[in-house]
Amino acid sequence: MQMVRLVNSGTEATMHALRLARGFTGRKKILKFDGGFHGSHDSVLVKPGPHGSIAGRPSSEGIPLETSKNTLVAPYNDEKTAAKIIRDYASQLAAVIVEPVAGNMGPIPPAKGFLNSLNKLTRENSVVLIFDEVITGFRLSLGGAQDYYHIIPDLTILGKIVGGGFPLAAFGGRREIMRKLSPLGPVYQAGTFSGNPVSVTAGLTTLRSLKRRSNQIYPRLERLGAFLSNGINDHLEARKVSAQTNQVGSMFQTFFTSRKVTDYSSAKSSDVDRYNRYFRSLLASNMFVPPSQFESCFLSTAHGEAEIEQTLDAIGESLRSLRG
Ligand SMILES: Cc1ncc(COP(=O)(O)O)c(C=O)c1O
Repeated sequence: MQMVRLVNSGTEATMHALRLARGFTGRKKILKFDGGFHGSHDSVLVKPGPHGSIAGRPSSEGIPLETSKNTLVAPYNDEKTAAKIIRDYASQLAAVIVEPVAGNMGPIPPAKGFLNSLNKLTRENSVVLIFDEVITGFRLSLGGAQDYYHIIPDLTILGKIVGGGFPLAAFGGRREIMRKLSPLGPVYQAGTFSGNPVSVTAGLTTLRSLKRRSNQIYPRLERLGAFLSNGINDHLEARKVSAQTNQVGSMFQTFFTSRKVTDYSSAKSSDVDRYNRYFRSLLASNMFVPPSQFESCFLSTAHGEAEIEQTLDAIGESLRSLRG
């Protein structure tokens, strides 16, 4: 990132980055992907409209339809639909915002060429490409998903790990865009606790530690992630449970569906009751996976082979009761 602005939460970061993209381009619509989560402000708490309409509608009470209509929604990994929307709406479209690895409908990796295509289309149509790396930043690699997949967006959102457990988030990217932000430019952003020294110290300490050990940490997370997801899939097969595990680095989730999960609609084909039973039986063996099918599980640097073996044993036991 050529310039960066510190804020307190991922929600604040995406809200200001989208305002910045609108201020920079002079356009008002944005494109997001169905099932993607970018915090809890009005422009992004949006789901697809009825009857295949791409104009979004509020996914929470209290959000005016007038606001949601400016957010267009496409299926994640659907390169063709995204291309059509970007071309058709180019003159009104300020930004495309995407989780480069979808993390809020379970982890869903980008299909081959999907991120590249977004990069090319946004460039051709002078639309700002925003990677929301609140989850993937410092998780998939020290340089996040953009380094993992070798695609540099115009703006990047960071949160979670960047603050080392304290409230801190950031957005930044191309200097030409960032210079539009106050006090240099006309797009307003400020906050009492923005860049507060406690969070920044915690964040810097964490990032320095990750940087120092990055040659060990990331290959190890990658290896342990694959070990765990392969182990879960072996259990699924052995117990004839119709489910599959998605995994990217230290992100993983088991979806109770026979369909390959590549977007929100395939994720929603999962048997949620069965996931809930899986969650409860794991909790009874002191394994705390997220209480929702549509969340990612994460490995941390504290997990090693022993914890993974223990997890696999508990998962094997749990699946025994979920056959079919
Ligand atoms: C991808 C993504 N973007 C934005 C946010 C919002 O971040 P925060 O909860 O810090 O507002 C989240 C939160 O989980 C997230 O996963």
